Amino acid sequence: MIRREFITISSAAALWVLTGCGGGGGESDTSGGGGSGTLTPKAKALPIPEAISGSGSRTKQYDLTIRSSSHDFFNEADTSTYAVNGTFLGPTLFLRNGDDVSINYTNTLDEKISMHGHGMHLPADMDGSAHQEFQPGDTWSANYTVKQKACTNWYHPHTLHKTAEQVYKGIAGMIIIEDSESDALDLPNRYGKDDIPLVLQDRKFDTNGQIVYNPSQQEIMRGYIGDTFIANGAIEPTFDAEAKEIRFRILNGSNSTVYELGFSDGRAFKQIATDNAFLESPVSMSRLTLSPAERAEIIVDLSGDLNQSLTLDEFKNNKTFLKINVSKSPAATTSVPNVLTTLDIPGSASIARSFSLEGSMGNFTINGKAMDINVINETLTLGVLEEWTVTNTMNIDHNFHIHGTHFRLVKRNGSNSIAANEKGYKDTVYIPAGEEVTFQVKMTDYADTIVPYMYHCHFLEHEDNGMMGQFTVS
Ligand code: C2O
Ligand code: CU
Ligand code: CU
Repeated sequence: MIRREFITISSAAALWVLTGCGGGGGESDTSGGGGSGTLTPKAKALPIPEAISGSGSRTKQYDLTIRSSSHDFFNEADTSTYAVNGTFLGPTLFLRNGDDVSINYTNTLDEKISMHGHGMHLPADMDGSAHQEFQPGDTWSANYTVKQKACTNWYHPHTLHKTAEQVYKGIAGMIIIEDSESDALDLPNRYGKDDIPLVLQDRKFDTNGQIVYNPSQQEIMRGYIGDTFIANGAIEPTFDAEAKEIRFRILNGSNSTVYELGFSDGRAFKQIATDNAFLESPVSMSRLTLSPAERAEIIVDLSGDLNQSLTLDEFKNNKTFLKINVSKSPAATTSVPNVLTTLDIPGSASIARSFSLEGSMGNFTINGKAMDINVINETLTLGVLEEWTVTNTMNIDHNFHIHGTHFRLVKRNGSNSIAANEKGYKDTVYIPAGEEVTFQVKMTDYADTIVPYMYHCHFLEHEDNGMMGQFTVS
């Protein structure tokens, strides 16, 4: 038996002294308003984003309004935000494999935007990349048939050179895909009760509690890392859990912060899904590393913890994301199965490509070229298995994401021993400073020789400053 410590929550009353924003360039440090510089986080239960299952019988309609709003992070001041429907972030969209869907985004901001389905397997013209930007007052719809395994994806802006700022102000939300396989598994699936979406982010606020997006060149390079860590848009919120297995669908929704997650008592948990599918079997661990845009579904067993408390922490930056009070008896029980799914076996690739991630002074390139919306960098062929090697030549971290598909990791730094929790379907892979990954990828179902998909580093400051390329599928 693992001995569990009882963690008391004494930090609720602690004052958070926010001291402006060092290195941010100064101009955003407004001095008006009589702010004392002391703001206290609003004590909150973990916000659970509204679940939208789509209306209509033939094609399911999801209506989303992108808007300016204000949100209550602090007791003393409201924060100006961007949001989808609500006041920060957006609803969780529930999709089913096989369904025809229309996700209708209406732009009520006074700037253009595009809305991308990250992790979605869909045609290039429905991808929501910078090629599908839409103007203030306009509605853009992503219409497609859901054709992929159960997983946790997300939507976010993909506006050329503006993605980082628009995400930072609050535009993002989860997409949960279910299928007959996920229906049949004995996994927690009561949304908001034992199946919990967790969008993890960090932010900088000024002394008036306003979001500051003003990265210096150094922060563009190293990552724009905030000092206030938030879960579903709340600062250290509390989740009142049933004493049973709890499933967290974790999204690293940050701009450029790598999170190393674990529980305060060091307990083990099981990862059951990577970006685009269940793992074949659960992988036990006590620390989980997630780079920006990566997802992991985990199961933590709280069945022996009634009346105890713990926290979900981030160990690289020494922060707490979530307080968990195990305060309720279970309304139902679950038992995570040992076999979750069957994944395709990686084959032998007939085409090899390599990508070199480079940059200096706040400008980035892939294979020596900065993103150019008018240039198609690579041409792929439908159904052909390829092997891509991506090398991080720099002494800063990056990751690599591909649109419209998933990939399978086959090598890290030349070795084919891949961590058990990276053996699943992924669309984003962490590539720490100086490292190299090789993965196999295949485009299926959708060819378009005109409209490209994108690949890029998902550290948003890097993406917006050149570390992105485009490919078409013939
Ligand atoms: Cu999460 Cu190109 O996107
Ligand atoms: Cu994407
Ligand atoms: Cu990068």
